[in-house]
Amino acid sequence: MIAAGPLQGANHAPSGASAAAKPQGLGDHPGGLQNDTLLRALRREPTPYVPVWLMRQAGRYLPEYAALRAKAGSFMALATTPSLATEVTLQPLARFPLDAAILFSDILTVPDAMGLGLSFAEGEGPRFARTAADEPAIRALRVPDLAKLRYVFDAVGEIKRALAGRVPLIGFAGSPFTLACYMIEGGGSADFAAVRRMAFARPDLLERLVSVNADAVAAYLCEQAAAGADALMLFDTWGGLLTPDAYRRFSLASMRAVIARLPREVPTIVFTKGAAATLDDIVQSGASCVGLDWTMDLREARRRHGARVAFQGNLDPLALLTDPATVERAATEIVAAAGPAPGYVFNVGHGVVPATPPDHVAALVAAVHRASRVTGGASGTPPRAVQQRGGD
Ligand code: CP3
Repeated sequence: MIAAGPLQGANHAPSGASAAAKPQGLGDHPGGLQNDTLLRALRREPTPYVPVWLMRQAGRYLPEYAALRAKAGSFMALATTPSLATEVTLQPLARFPLDAAILFSDILTVPDAMGLGLSFAEGEGPRFARTAADEPAIRALRVPDLAKLRYVFDAVGEIKRALAGRVPLIGFAGSPFTLACYMIEGGGSADFAAVRRMAFARPDLLERLVSVNADAVAAYLCEQAAAGADALMLFDTWGGLLTPDAYRRFSLASMRAVIARLPREVPTIVFTKGAAATLDDIVQSGASCVGLDWTMDLREARRRHGARVAFQGNLDPLALLTDPATVERAATEIVAAAGPAPGYVFNVGHGVVPATPPDHVAALVAAVHRASRVTGGASGTPPRAVQQRGGD
């Protein structure tokens, strides 16, 4: 059995920072953040408890999301209308005392703005009207006019105003390589065969595509930060498809180039799914924090690299399909595996799946806070669920 609770809490404690303390160094929030545990953990500063947010915390497992999506007519209508994107972003925060909001959008808005024509057919996943799979199409690609993505920056601003400093807002983009996967295939794929073939047959072309994407993603993320995003995350869902050498060449190098161009004061998270073999390289990406999927060893990652980067993860999202007691046990074990040192953010190892019962998410968030909290200290009281303003 793995010990939890006081052991964890005592060790997360000594900052003296309460959840309501005024954060320092958050220049673009004159009022400060009421809950800055996420930002502190990303900077490997002590926190009174382990902050938790979940990939896909807004989405189809929430009935209020399904209702709003039906009303809006499509995923893209939600994503491109700042008031609706704001409402969806806040939905999970009204239910659960999460320690961060994540912008409601999608990684594929960037290739859409590059002219590929994105759509999401009901129950089918993303589709591009045009691909970037051959030399002429790839050579014709340009960094998009960021005005085409204004709806994203407007959403960031509106979400920040609606949050009113209650929790930080995470902005995000797809990694240059993961975007290339969808651009080459024209949508999702079981094996991304065309991409893997190109890595061998035309590495120069793949490199060119990834490099345009890196320029686009860097500009896009800088603009999200300028609009108010408090932290920035790169989703590299498909980097783990590559050989370790190809991963370093086509995915990691371009993520490093992106991160180097982001404002230094904004903490960053990189998440490559299925990349246990290259963890020693990923921790040198320049990001503040490395996200782990559930196949990776959090305890070992923290032991080896915890002095260099923060870690985020890594509950198998399928654990949320069991029952509250099992969810609580699994969460407590992960908090124990993460250990007491600062620099840890709880998350799932990939997105919350649509069949997840919302009650199980409530049990998860409570268990993470309980298992990591300072026992007996007022500073260890996690926040209550954020109320949405104005009944919108
Ligand atoms: O995490 C969040 O809550 C923020 C919003 C967010 C979405 N997509 C909303 C979304 C984020 C961060 C993403 C990232 C994303 N999008 C990734 C990287 C992370 C990952 O999940 O691997 C990828 C690969 C995509 C591309 C994408 N978008 C796919 C493959 C699909 C269809 C399959 C699926 O998982 O739903 C989407 C659609 C999408 N993006 C939905 C949501 C809530 C579902 C849309 C709907 O049908 O209502």
